[in-house]
Amino acid sequence: MTTEEQYKKFEELDKLASQGGGIDRIEKQHANGHMTARERIDMLLDKGTFNELDKLVIHHCTDFGMDKKHIPGDGIVCGYGKIDGRLVYVYAYDFTVFGGTLSTTGAKKIVKVQELALKNGAPVIALNDSGGARIQEGVGSISGYASIFYQNTISSGVIPQISAILGPCAGGACYSPALTDFIFMVKEKSHMFITGPDVVKAVTHEEVDKEELGGAYTHSSKSGVTHFLCDTEEETLMSIRELLSFLPSNNMEDAPMVPCTDDIRRTDESLMSVIPDDPNMPYDIKNIIEPVVDDHYFFEVMPHFAKNIVIGFARLGGRSVGIVANQPAYLAGVLDIDASDKASRFIRFCDCFNIPIITFEDVPGFLPGCAQEHNGIIRHGAKIVYAYAEATVPKITVITRKAYGGAYIVMNSKPIGADVNFSYPTAEIAVMGADGAVNILYRKATPEEKVQAIEEYKEKFSNPYRAAEQGYIDEIILPKDTRYKLIQALEMTQNKSQSNPPKKHGNMPL
Ligand code: HXC
Repeated sequence: MTTEEQYKKFEELDKLASQGGGIDRIEKQHANGHMTARERIDMLLDKGTFNELDKLVIHHCTDFGMDKKHIPGDGIVCGYGKIDGRLVYVYAYDFTVFGGTLSTTGAKKIVKVQELALKNGAPVIALNDSGGARIQEGVGSISGYASIFYQNTISSGVIPQISAILGPCAGGACYSPALTDFIFMVKEKSHMFITGPDVVKAVTHEEVDKEELGGAYTHSSKSGVTHFLCDTEEETLMSIRELLSFLPSNNMEDAPMVPCTDDIRRTDESLMSVIPDDPNMPYDIKNIIEPVVDDHYFFEVMPHFAKNIVIGFARLGGRSVGIVANQPAYLAGVLDIDASDKASRFIRFCDCFNIPIITFEDVPGFLPGCAQEHNGIIRHGAKIVYAYAEATVPKITVITRKAYGGAYIVMNSKPIGADVNFSYPTAEIAVMGADGAVNILYRKATPEEKVQAIEEYKEKFSNPYRAAEQGYIDEIILPKDTRYKLIQALEMTQNKSQSNPPKKHGNMPL
């Protein structure tokens, strides 16, 4: 063969590999409203930066006639490229090849990319669209999942790991996304479940369709499995790019600083009228978060799940911060099991990746009731304590209104390890609200005496001054000054160096 013929042979093979399962299956994928694996990667990465690895790998299965069916790449498209000029690794299941199912060799391709990402300190993005374990391969395939899960676990807290579910994701295959830091799903296009509707019907006699069982809405609002609900694949891929802009590439780096064109000393008069005169009236905590952060831009995470707590990323003076805020507009901002889980995992993510945590606090307490107690509010609520106490990143709190009892303590109070606690003059820092306290202290008093006692209690405790006198509040600030105060506190703590006692790992309540 001449050199030219050898080049030609390679080009033909490369073209064949680029077509995955072939033109017909690509058309079917499009007809079903999906992009192909390579189209997704092209849209996700900076133009022309994708370098594909293992494009010619084939499976070694000989059962069920598979020895006669070989498609180069074997259903996984993987490699590395750039997002906003920063290195990322990516792997995408190619549904046009054997339904995107995982073979032994496919798993080895994924693990190779995961290992490279870990060694080189860059995020991994997984684009899932797969029929799961390739049935013809048996244990080789499911063991392949195990090696992916192992790598997910080892990489956790070292490099950011992001999963997009862009088609089916069934059975044990769901556990790889679940082990990663963030999951994106697309309305009506993606599904995740351990067992599908048919098995559910056979075992539990429940009739449920796949959307209700494991669609994007279900997982973003009910189960809390997914963090982002997107309308389209395009929106998903763009949102992944945006999420990464808030994150460092690995746990040894800081998140990229973005030039800040928003005046760091900007005051905002609108903040002065957010807290209502009546302490029992709700207000939207985002009306405080948005005016405070750079360009009023808040990138919310899990907006549809446990709405009584708000989490997400923003920037202050160009620096990435993670925000955790009680939401008085939903269930009065009470802490319950779901809110505890949502906040704790986010706090731990920020701490893994050197992102300072800003907490806005207005919390009446933990949600009472049998349902909460019997489902373990004690162990779930303990997660927030653990996450805040363990975090060594800068931790700053602004108490806007209620800070009662145990809930005050857990929401990044000074004794739990906060660096700075600000409070507004409207803060109420006490063991409990005035009515509840008087009902316990003056059980036998007349109604008139109770009214007077409530007034006395409010005068004494429904304010931030007792806490400030004892140093539990570092500074009382006016709401309009919050932005500059937070930015100065972030500058003050930017070289914070704190480490916990050496250990294998803690035993977090789970
Ligand atoms: C081998 C599979 C397959 C599988 C699909 N295909 N799933 N081949 N192993 N698990 C093949 C189909 O035979 C078909 O091949 C092609 O992929 C496309 O599938 P279709 O059924 O035509 O597509 P569609 O109608 O869109 O349905 C997609 C699907 C469905 C919802 C994914 O195929 C399905 O339910 N598959 C089985 C899913 C499943 O139960 N997987 C195991 C999960 S448990 P041809 O050549 O005909 O086009 C698991 C264990 C993991 O994964 C354990 C980890 C620890």
